[in-house]
Amino acid sequence: MNKDLIKKKYKKKIKLVNHYNQKYYDENISEISDAKFDQIKKEIVDLENKYDFLRDENSPTLKVGFKPSKNFKKEEHRIPMLSLANAFDEKDLINYEKKIFNYLDKKDNLQIEYSAEPKIDGISASLTYKGGKFFRGLSRGDGNQGEDITLNLQTIEDIPKFISEKDFPDDIDIRGEVFIQNSDFEKLKNKFANPRNAASGSLRQKDPNETKKIPLKFIAYTYGYENGLNINSQSDFLKKLKQWGFKINLLNKVLTGTKNLMDNYHEIEKKRNELDFDIDGIVYKINNFDFQKRLGNVANAPRWAIAHKFSANNGVSKINDIDIQIGRTGALTPVAKINPINIGGVVVSNATLHNEDEMDRKDIRIGDTVIVERAGDVIPHIISVDLSKRLKQSNKFIFPKKCPSCGSKTVKEFNTLTKKKDAVRRCSSEGFGCEKVAIEKIKHFVSKEAFNIDGFGKKIVEKFWDLKLIKLPQDIFKLNYEKIALMDGWGKQSVANLKFSINERKTISFERFIYSLGIRHIGLENARLISKHLKTFKNLIQFYKDKKFNDLLIIDGIGETQINSVKNFFLNSENLKIIDELSKILKIENAIIIKKDGSLANKTFMLTGKLNGMSRAEAKSIIEQNSGSIISNVSKNLDFLIIGEKPTKRKIENAKKLKVKILNQNEWLKILNKTS
Ligand code: IVH
Repeated sequence: MNKDLIKKKYKKKIKLVNHYNQKYYDENISEISDAKFDQIKKEIVDLENKYDFLRDENSPTLKVGFKPSKNFKKEEHRIPMLSLANAFDEKDLINYEKKIFNYLDKKDNLQIEYSAEPKIDGISASLTYKGGKFFRGLSRGDGNQGEDITLNLQTIEDIPKFISEKDFPDDIDIRGEVFIQNSDFEKLKNKFANPRNAASGSLRQKDPNETKKIPLKFIAYTYGYENGLNINSQSDFLKKLKQWGFKINLLNKVLTGTKNLMDNYHEIEKKRNELDFDIDGIVYKINNFDFQKRLGNVANAPRWAIAHKFSANNGVSKINDIDIQIGRTGALTPVAKINPINIGGVVVSNATLHNEDEMDRKDIRIGDTVIVERAGDVIPHIISVDLSKRLKQSNKFIFPKKCPSCGSKTVKEFNTLTKKKDAVRRCSSEGFGCEKVAIEKIKHFVSKEAFNIDGFGKKIVEKFWDLKLIKLPQDIFKLNYEKIALMDGWGKQSVANLKFSINERKTISFERFIYSLGIRHIGLENARLISKHLKTFKNLIQFYKDKKFNDLLIIDGIGETQINSVKNFFLNSENLKIIDELSKILKIENAIIIKKDGSLANKTFMLTGKLNGMSRAEAKSIIEQNSGSIISNVSKNLDFLIIGEKPTKRKIENAKKLKVKILNQNEWLKILNKTS
């Protein structure tokens, strides 16, 4: 298809989406199904991703919300709804405080109290109450005039419809934020770009019955017009709001001094991803209402408040190089080495490019200027390339056809199930022959869920590999400790500790053993299922000698992909040799078949603190072997809290409150011995 035709097709789709939107929001008519509507929107997104020359200001991908509907009557706010000035860093806060001191003609040593309130990213609304009755609700509109959305606001449970408290003013505008919780937004993800749009779209439905279907929330934080409000500070006002039946933000605090404001800001920014609502900063309000009155407003914002915005979770940088990392399964992962940038307080210098297909799709090249995103604990990644800044002489990145570590051919496997080639390119050796793969396999072998050797982390694997102390998993059990004792940084005690932890792990459960082999597609759960099915290590040997791979198909959860992978693994003589060597060193226990009617049946346990001579994992498995179950919260459903050394105090307190039985290790073992 030529460029013009593509453009025409694209514009037509945008026109269509906007037509359906207008029908829906202004006339409340659904001319097509939601699914079809979403499909057209997705086609637009796909086209934009595929063709860089497609851009249109009316595209639904650029729209934050919908135009205010013509359906709502406009109403004047009795007191304008202002916006807030912004601060971005500590320097801005210090300057802000200085200005306040100057304005109020105060000395620097005065402590000014702030009400620090998380800034919810929703839609603000002003609710007028007359004689205690919810009379009218307006959207912010342009600040002076809002839309009368009373009927829609009335559907929100958090908004009290009648307030009978004596001290509730006779006439007042209560202002706050309408928003949707992230967990509720999950269900509406296909209809709206983000929670804010969902809240805004829902509030502007013509039919309040439609609004009602959407679980909107309301948090109150300020007032507009008032008659009869007799309160001296913002924090007292917030307390009153609560008494009157409004929801207020649980993270509101009263603080003094910019240092404390900064600490609170960092603390909340850290928690930001765990909250069930989106916040984009903290609002600081001078707590004292007399000061607020004296400070007054500038053009469109009060002098007595400022919004301390969180830094964006993305930034612009340049790709200096593209590295190829090789994983345990031979997967080649491209990683962009970028000019270090600070994103939300963390310096980012690497960003994953995922795999070959993803790189092709985004056509990412060395030298490109890119937008990098870092969200939560996820590895930073590249969102898009700024093509306008691409250098003329830049070349397409060619993915290596040979493994950069061992030189074997790299391949993209054909997935028989999806009938497509894998998005990932892999080193075809896939075994210990490739140095990088081997190191990653050994890291997996010693990892927490596998052999879990205390003090034998990733760094030690790399070090011992470099020193040629280990090449294969079995080498871990044949270490030359005398040689290690002579190495820098190793003393007698640390070598003795290492030796002890390695020897301790010579006895291993069957499921951990299977998992530690690092068979592709055989994670913890599949390893457990296979171990339960085969029961003993002896049976495992027989299983692969007889090549009875398809027998595993009867296990619920094991499919063709896993079988193929198991087959490949056990048809590889190198792997069999490793298993044989390990079997000479290790004691591989038989799979434990959990009795449903064990002595701890129907009893729930929770552990806190360090147990003596027993890992938490072992304690858990003992409980489970005796048909007990482990739960992760202190609640009414908990029967026993087992406490070890340095337990979490809060857990004990909660357990006491709920009258949960508390046992120390000995008491617990006694119960176990008595009943088993
Ligand atoms: S006070 C004049 N308090 O932030 C005072 N606003 O940029 C302005 N917002 O339109 C309102 N949380 O939508 C205030 N605790 C809070 C807030 C808050 C969120 C929003 C509100 C306002 C915008 C100002």
